[in-house]
Amino acid sequence: WGKTGHRVTGEIAEKYLSKKAKKEISKLLDAHSLAFVSNFGDDIKSDAKFDHFGPWHYVNFPFGARYEDSPKSEKGDIIIGINKCITILKDDRSSREDKVFYLKMLVHFMGDLHQPLHIGLAEDKGGNDFQVRWFGEGTNLHTVWDSSILESYQMSYSEISKNADVLSERQLEAIQKGTPLDWMYDSRKLCENIYENTKVGEKLGYEYMYKYMNVLRSQLQKGGIRLAALLNNIYG
Ligand code: ADE
Ligand code: ZN
Ligand code: ZN
Repeated sequence: WGKTGHRVTGEIAEKYLSKKAKKEISKLLDAHSLAFVSNFGDDIKSDAKFDHFGPWHYVNFPFGARYEDSPKSEKGDIIIGINKCITILKDDRSSREDKVFYLKMLVHFMGDLHQPLHIGLAEDKGGNDFQVRWFGEGTNLHTVWDSSILESYQMSYSEISKNADVLSERQLEAIQKGTPLDWMYDSRKLCENIYENTKVGEKLGYEYMYKYMNVLRSQLQKGGIRLAALLNNIYG
């Protein structure tokens, strides 16, 4: 996601944290919020010493294939990245510095896990090479999903967070259930649907925005709820 998407995920997660998790996280983040640190994973891209984390923001494998059966990138991917963050945070021997770093990365990657185009295809780099028009301007499908749809709301991240769906206890449990791998397959399904409904060079605008805005909002909300579920598990 772009900046707003990551902030919404962080803001929503905050509401679902246990008391214990909230306290531990506040200590590690010097009282900054999850929304505040949610774009750290992208901000460090400006420093070449963090280049090896680049492939941890996404995973690519063919439509119809299983992740488990597909050749893995030796540089890692979003599943390997999220599991690494969890391992570091659960390990009492990890340094405080590592815990802070990997906590900020986990907040970021749980956002990206819910961006359908981050569970993409290698041949077009997750839609980065899939050219489309957005309200008349040339762009690509990845950017439309990272930020253009959300920006067209003209709302701040806290307004978008406040407009999240009200969920029953049953709905909440269903969202929290499972593992990062299961959640990755939810995004993959949406990605396949998006490719079935979008053509290269297509002129996208308000119809596309209204067709997908609830899917997008729901993905941000699920990302936040599941991030909180992971953090509540880590901090007991
Ligand atoms: N670069 C290559 N594939 C990508 C993807 N699926 N998402 C983001 N960046 C990428
Ligand atoms: Zn992206
Ligand atoms: Zn990212």
